[in-house]
Amino acid sequence: MTRNLLTFILTSLFFFQGYENRVSSDLSKYEDKADSIISLMTLEEKIGQLSLFTSDWSATGPSIRNDYIDLIRQGKAGNIFNAYTVDFVKELQRIAVEETRLHIPLLFGYDVIHGHRTIFPVPLAQASSWDTAAIRKAERIAAIEATAEGLNWTFAPMVDLARDPRWGRVMEGAGEDTWLGSLIGAARVKGFQGSGLSDKRSVLACVKHFAAYGAPQGGRDYHTVDISERSLYEWYLPVYNACIDAGAGSVMTSFNEIAGIPSTSNRWLLTDVLRDEWNFNGFIVTDYTSINELIPHGVAANLAEAAELSINAGVDMDMQGSAFLDELPPLVAAGRVSEKKIDDAVRRILVTKFRMGLFDDPYKNCDKEREKQEIMTPEHLGFAREFAARSCVLLKNEKNTLPVPGTVRTLAVIGPLADSKADMLGSWSAAGDWSKCVTLLEGINNKVNGRIKVLSAKGCNINDSNTDGINNAVSIALRADFVILALGESRDMSGEAASRAKIGLPGVQMELASAIIRTEKPVTVVLFNGRPLAIEELNALAPAILEAWFGGTQAGNGVADVLFGDVNPSGKLTMTFPRNEGQIPVFYNSKNTGRPINPDNPYEKYRSNYLDSPNDPLYPFGFGLSYTSFSYSGITLNKNEFHQNEQVTATVEITNTGDRDGEEVVQLYIRDLAGEVTRPVKELKGFKKVLIEKGMSIGVTFTLSPADLSYYHQDMSFSFDPGEFELYIGTNSSDCVSASFVISTPQPP
Ligand code: NOJ
Repeated sequence: MTRNLLTFILTSLFFFQGYENRVSSDLSKYEDKADSIISLMTLEEKIGQLSLFTSDWSATGPSIRNDYIDLIRQGKAGNIFNAYTVDFVKELQRIAVEETRLHIPLLFGYDVIHGHRTIFPVPLAQASSWDTAAIRKAERIAAIEATAEGLNWTFAPMVDLARDPRWGRVMEGAGEDTWLGSLIGAARVKGFQGSGLSDKRSVLACVKHFAAYGAPQGGRDYHTVDISERSLYEWYLPVYNACIDAGAGSVMTSFNEIAGIPSTSNRWLLTDVLRDEWNFNGFIVTDYTSINELIPHGVAANLAEAAELSINAGVDMDMQGSAFLDELPPLVAAGRVSEKKIDDAVRRILVTKFRMGLFDDPYKNCDKEREKQEIMTPEHLGFAREFAARSCVLLKNEKNTLPVPGTVRTLAVIGPLADSKADMLGSWSAAGDWSKCVTLLEGINNKVNGRIKVLSAKGCNINDSNTDGINNAVSIALRADFVILALGESRDMSGEAASRAKIGLPGVQMELASAIIRTEKPVTVVLFNGRPLAIEELNALAPAILEAWFGGTQAGNGVADVLFGDVNPSGKLTMTFPRNEGQIPVFYNSKNTGRPINPDNPYEKYRSNYLDSPNDPLYPFGFGLSYTSFSYSGITLNKNEFHQNEQVTATVEITNTGDRDGEEVVQLYIRDLAGEVTRPVKELKGFKKVLIEKGMSIGVTFTLSPADLSYYHQDMSFSFDPGEFELYIGTNSSDCVSASFVISTPQPP
């Protein structure tokens, strides 16, 4: 068939109509179109659509291996990742749509995790804002910038629930709570995908890593996951499901195994749960070379077996492994993989490309004007600053050490993270340019603008044993009347392959901190890190601690806004800070056990406790202080006994008892006192972030629906039981007021 004739057939087939949330009705239309293309494809071309290969980035800009260009040209590489900037993407897309036999456009994926060029706080920090509108907005901006540089697919959101802060990738997620994680995951998907996939400012979301990648044994990355089906359904799976419900168009498999079956060859997970139970109709991509890794996992003897297992389990696209490309043709020839299986996977990918409008305009994200105009705009940077401030969590503030008093004349900014541009980005910072980051020292200088004297010293490195700089740092501190001590981790100490067995302050930073605190100057510690740290000693010594995480491009300005009181901190932890590593995993929604700790005698023998550590963490889930204070009234319930299916309404009055306006994250938890299956001691079921003016009170009302009281029973049915419930409302998961109510037993008919 000549190229012109083909183009004619394809263009008439591909006439694109816009859509928005009409996915299922549009689906069959696109499936028909996809099938028309599939009927023209060779097996190699089909497998090409199931293959994703990387491009590179060198000192001179983007590049790609010549053999990958050849694969694109032969229709054997249907998707590329890590390629961005308009000219580069446009050229690759041109090869795909002009030089291949069937002119099928490429997907261009990239890890746009917390911003593209304008980098926002790391996801765990964003979650600390408890502000889903801000999170959605950050992803919207990320999508605008990514698509302005040619991208159309992000490998995000990462929604792996995590209870072990040793795991470096806790930085990428929303923390330890399923309910909150689900809201945040859905907000991220909506932010990325915007008004619909065909919009030129939308990126296709990819929910990852399916599933339970956040529960590796010992917190060691890529390690074995072994959790019960109930725990999976109750804690881990709902977050991915919420993202599917929010419309996410793709899902990435995880590196780990679950109960002996690696996710990438896990038919139950990928087909029974994701496709059949949840009706997911997008496509499933593996993580980087995950198919190849089925061999060291020990479920495949060779790459052919690995490819067979994964496609038959439900994988549609192979990231970087070349396993599908090399192994599927002989597997089909041998009848070990059906061509129908391949066609189904190709159809899902082509349908997605239709939904994205790529057949209509393959160059929709190749607009040089947008590339110039829509990256790192003042609006994006302004929001990054706001979000960096909004993500901060005030952990301690003895005697109102913060905000920095107006009387301060000389300020010392000390520590290895005081002026470290690259670290501000945090891990997985996409195309973020560290040289454009604002450090804490710069942010403070911008803020004080010469009005007060700012001294600085590094004191020590982040993670070595050299103490030479400590004396100089102490002498600088002695010359100041207020000290800000910037401590924490380097950006590469969290993220992928960055598990830590010990999660205290690295290197000699604690020595530096002790020496500075001993000067008895007013000291505030600002922490930059990507995970909860075990900082019991620091907490005992430092008068004030602000958790700033890695705040991104505008970190320094945002944190300075908080330190100087222009922004009153309102963040709350979404992951428990342990006292020590031995407590891990420690999380708020644990079970009571048959022998719970005796609060009046915490070391009582034959109770579930430690001989050498309290059970309670250093800072609980939901914890965060403000420059003002709030008091909570008792809870008023609409009634105390409810019939099945009636709604429970609970109201509290919260008063701002301090001397400045402030925002409070009011949190609602429940406990089912006697279930058919044991229930956690607390479960988050609602929150409201409210601004309360100083001296004012407001009423906050929550409504609980039957679904909020439901859980997976012995037979895995999802429902609630009659009986007594406790309800808690408070400022964090351990500091709450409480009430109880009863769901009455239904009367026999
Ligand atoms: C491996 C990571 O686990 C995953 O999150 C990421 O999207 C891919 N590499 C691609 O960079």
